[in-house]
Amino acid sequence: MTALTLPAPAKLNRMLHITGRRDDGYHELQTLFQFLDHGDTLTFQVREDNQVTLSPSLSGVVDEDNLIVRAARLLQPYSQRPLGADIQLQKRLPMGGGLGGGSSDAATTLLALDRLWGLELGLERLAELGLQLGADVPVFVRGRAAWAEGIGERLTPVSLDTPWFVVIHPGIEVSTPRVFGAPQLTRNTPPISMARALQEGPEAWRNDCEPVVRQLYPEVNDALGWLSGLAPTLLTGTGACVFCRLTSEDEASSILGRVRSGWTAFMAHGCNTSPLHQALGLF
Ligand code: C5P
Repeated sequence: MTALTLPAPAKLNRMLHITGRRDDGYHELQTLFQFLDHGDTLTFQVREDNQVTLSPSLSGVVDEDNLIVRAARLLQPYSQRPLGADIQLQKRLPMGGGLGGGSSDAATTLLALDRLWGLELGLERLAELGLQLGADVPVFVRGRAAWAEGIGERLTPVSLDTPWFVVIHPGIEVSTPRVFGAPQLTRNTPPISMARALQEGPEAWRNDCEPVVRQLYPEVNDALGWLSGLAPTLLTGTGACVFCRLTSEDEASSILGRVRSGWTAFMAHGCNTSPLHQALGLF
């Protein structure tokens, strides 16, 4: 096998609590991650000359700084041969959207090149490597809906309800460091047990970043206001995307049809196993 085409799914944070701040500035979280059957698509073609190319280049990002190229570079030392790859990216997930697009692309690259280069590093090692690229990469490598603690890397698989979601992107990019750096951010939510979070269920779930993001980004505030008039709505990650949960496909399409012009939106199904892992036949 010398080529593979694979999905890089979106994630949603079904709830997100910030329970503390570490000395290195990263925040301690408790969150529930779930995947969507909607995301980017990546195609990988093996090269025998150590080169890694990405097309199309992402605007504003130097290729070598892109998480996809950095993921490939992280794996190269594990091969005895000078292997590389031509990588094509079909981008659907917005940057700065809270859907984990960049992290998911990186995880898909780790799993694809591990397979194409015959490295057989295993998901645990790949998740450790992925953490060097970003706090959200490990969950995409592990591929199971999860209760996450630490900075988002301590993962316990969970089974969540799998409704339809409508996700709205209000057309702006949120800066995650700006949100986490805001003085007014809640950083002291008392930790709860996973059992309690699951028992409380979707009606009680909230995202501690939401008040700050509403203040800093009025566009996100508008989208939250509009969508919550139709169904219970939350922010994912630090935004900019907001989402609501619906029990039927018909309800989801009806909301999608009413989304305000200027915003982009999609509907997708929640999944407890990643479409990436399903495509690779891992589970
Ligand atoms: O790990 P990642 O690159 O996704 O994080 C982007 C930024 O978000 C970090 O530099 C940090 O400022 C902030 N962050 C944080 N706590 C986390 C995750 C991210 O403070 N658990």
